[in-house]
Amino acid sequence: MTTAKQMLERALSIRRPPHASEDAGAAEDEGGDETGDESKTRKHISMAVRITNYLTRTGYLWPILVIGLIIVIISSVIISSRDLVCISASSSDHISRLRFFGFDELESDFGSLGVPWCRSKHGKDVEWTSKDLLRGLEEFVPIYETRPIQNNMYGMGFDHSFGLWFITRWLKPDLMIESGAFKGHSTWVLRQAMPDIPIVSLSPRHPEKYLKKGPAYVDGNCTYFAGKDFVDFGSMDWGRVMRKHGIKDRSRVLVFFDDHQNELKRLKQALKAGFKHLVFEDNYDTGTGDHYSFRQICDQFYIRGGGHSCFKDSDEARIRHRRRKFWEKAVDIEELCGPGEAWWGVRGHMRDDFNHSNKAITYAEHFQNSRFVESVLDVYWELPPVAGPSLTHQTRYDPARAPTPIVEDGRYGLFRRLGLSRLDNSVFNGYTQMVYLQVSKP
Ligand SMILES: C[S@@+](CC[C@H](N)C(=O)[O-])C[C@H]1O[C@@H](n2cnc3c(N)ncnc32)[C@H](O)[C@@H]1O
Repeated sequence: MTTAKQMLERALSIRRPPHASEDAGAAEDEGGDETGDESKTRKHISMAVRITNYLTRTGYLWPILVIGLIIVIISSVIISSRDLVCISASSSDHISRLRFFGFDELESDFGSLGVPWCRSKHGKDVEWTSKDLLRGLEEFVPIYETRPIQNNMYGMGFDHSFGLWFITRWLKPDLMIESGAFKGHSTWVLRQAMPDIPIVSLSPRHPEKYLKKGPAYVDGNCTYFAGKDFVDFGSMDWGRVMRKHGIKDRSRVLVFFDDHQNELKRLKQALKAGFKHLVFEDNYDTGTGDHYSFRQICDQFYIRGGGHSCFKDSDEARIRHRRRKFWEKAVDIEELCGPGEAWWGVRGHMRDDFNHSNKAITYAEHFQNSRFVESVLDVYWELPPVAGPSLTHQTRYDPARAPTPIVEDGRYGLFRRLGLSRLDNSVFNGYTQMVYLQVSKP
């Protein structure tokens, strides 16, 4: 019977040092210097032979050594492959996503299913650059860490808090209006951006009501139209409010909407009131959300990144189906497309008021809506996600429908330097394409 020792001796004997001429050829092939007798290959091989001889003399000690060596090699390969992308091993979801898409695909994934946007009248863009956003992030992270409502479930997370703070601080309005306050987190964000400027907040339930149950924020320089004093944005006497705050120029006012109302309706009301600077928190992607949004309105065939195929056998159907498994907000063709292949709104419906109203619209109406929006738009700017999912571990929005993040995947050093690694992963799970609009009557 052949013993394990004999088998190893045979295996090692196959790796005998090659004949001198073979060795020279190999060195030539590699562009090496074949003239010296004491080449590295020779040394290595003669060392191997010496080791073999030693092992054959030492009896059964060697199989244990070989097995130990194999275990060390396998475990070091596993550890180094984890280090490669700075992902936490605890996130099994994320690892399976990486396995599915591969690292390269993950990095280049953003926008692969199209990022529609609304065309502005004169192609004007925002003044700020990605450098300004990075500088802003560095400044905002320590501010965000002091937030009174640490867990703002159902309200804004980190991405949109940063977006609202950044836009507000850049525009420096004379008055800030908020529609939809919930526990007051967004009121607090506005206050951090502009410490001395008055706020007007409209919300059916006063944030002070939440104080009885836990953390909430009530601002000292804010006029609340809330509780029994609640007035909807569309019914407010804005002339009176402006006079009370001494506002003569309404283009000096910033309006922030987080009230889950049809955004087309809100746009028309804001235009009528003469406001120019508008921020919409939940700019839901086509096929998602509980109200009609600008993203949906402008997702038209003639827009690069816009329009959809409702064919069940299309590439889009296949890709969407696959992505549904990995991103909670990714939508399948079945969810996206309604009867008559209607994908506008949510399956052809124009949703409003947290989906309490749900009116079917035709494609012709949807198209007209986009033309109207374009006729009043001076600027349309969607906040990018703050960082890629390999860094934030977010699992909700589908990167394939989002613009490239401010901190791209793989840039862990930058992510950490900005202080973002100190934040809990859950705060990165609320991105829904917050948008800043500058508008004027056609
Ligand atoms: C998602 S929450 C707002 C979250 C808040 N902005 C934050 O960041 O924490 C939506 C809020 O809109 C309020 N709301 C409902 N209908 C409204 C309306 N017609 N006008 C203003 N707010 C409304 C709800 O009561 C709720 O407080």
